[in-house]
Amino acid sequence: MQRLVIGNWKMNPLTIGEAKKIFASFKEAVSKVRGVDIVVCPPAIFLSEIRKLYVGKKITFGAQNVFMGATGSHTGEMSAPMLLSAGARTVIVGHSERRAMGEDNDLIRKKVAAAVMAGMRVVVCVGETARDDSGEYLTAVRTQLNTAIADLTRSQLSQVVVAYEPVWAIGKSASDALSPSHIHEMSIFIRKIILERFDTETMQKVPVVYGGSVEPSNAGSIIADGHVDGFLVGHASLSPTDFATIISAASA
Ligand code: PGA
Repeated sequence: MQRLVIGNWKMNPLTIGEAKKIFASFKEAVSKVRGVDIVVCPPAIFLSEIRKLYVGKKITFGAQNVFMGATGSHTGEMSAPMLLSAGARTVIVGHSERRAMGEDNDLIRKKVAAAVMAGMRVVVCVGETARDDSGEYLTAVRTQLNTAIADLTRSQLSQVVVAYEPVWAIGKSASDALSPSHIHEMSIFIRKIILERFDTETMQKVPVVYGGSVEPSNAGSIIADGHVDGFLVGHASLSPTDFATIISAASA
């Protein structure tokens, strides 16, 4: 499977000018990287402008959230058809920062279904808030994933990417990331959940990526020993050189 690296800029930077600068440097920094599916998710308000700066095929664009309906009286929301029209082909759904703002598994299920129906690729985020000795965290991840994909058919699963992000490892530094062996364990667990509902062929088509303090210093070991198909990168994706280094590690 082709490696996949998604950059989530979150609510950064402050201005469209800074956003354009970051993207221009990043585009330059990855000009020699081959064979990685790269997705940049800027704040949706900057999407069309950033999109205009790029003509190649290597990088595609994504959004960080989506509404579950297509159009209508939903003040402040953005639908999948609108995001597509602004140049996003991918959307992140169920990020822990949105779950912390009140999005529950059922709302995430509706958003995943709406985005998939509109033809988008959906990065479904799952991950426990804490670990415990009795394995409750595994149940939490299982419920998150099973609910998120509950409305999808076997063929629609080809539009899904699962991002495993332990919440306690997000936004810190490389030493706080989950160890590659534990990432490997969770990637097996996630694939098993998909297998339980579908079949081996379907399972093999769903990329599983890791997120949570991926930085240039740990990207290589996570890809080699974590057995994931790529990364969901937060803070490091705002540094064009760091993000390019992480992508190079994924291509190795
Ligand atoms: P981080 O964020 O790389 O800054 O830890 C990851 C994420 O929230 O997706």
